[in-house]
Amino acid sequence: MMKILVLNGPNLNMLGIREPAVYGRRTWRDLVDLILAHARETGVFAAVYQTNSEGELVTAVQKAYGRYDGLVINPAAYTHTSVALLDAVKAVGIPTVEVHISDVSKREDFRQVSFVRQAAALTVAGHGFDGYTEAMDYLKKRYEAEGER
Ligand code: DQA
Repeated sequence: MMKILVLNGPNLNMLGIREPAVYGRRTWRDLVDLILAHARETGVFAAVYQTNSEGELVTAVQKAYGRYDGLVINPAAYTHTSVALLDAVKAVGIPTVEVHISDVSKREDFRQVSFVRQAAALTVAGHGFDGYTEAMDYLKKRYEAEGER
């Protein structure tokens, strides 16, 4: 069974509370439930992790090496700052999709830079929670296509 690791950066545990006009009213728990239900429905194994710490995100990416077949990452604010996270994703070479709940392209100037995007096969932004399931579907399709080669 394909294994996908879904990584989430700072303040995403505050979903449902933080800026509902931007991120909606559904909670972090709702997001985890959605991801795990989608994994069950589509026949993949998914693990979901959230941390406020940049170093822990880097470590989580490193630990995925040899264990996971795909990464879904919403690095939150570290999207716009973290070369370390970009380097980690490049280092492990696992197919990765960058996800943002909000449409970052329509927000502040400082959100227009994404370091991790350089190493991502796809970016999904502005699709709300569905962006995560779209990312999982993309990775699954890609994994299956590679298996057929
Ligand atoms: C975010 C967008 C980032 O700019 C922001 O710092 C976040 C969440 C999103 O999911 O829309 O924390 O990654």
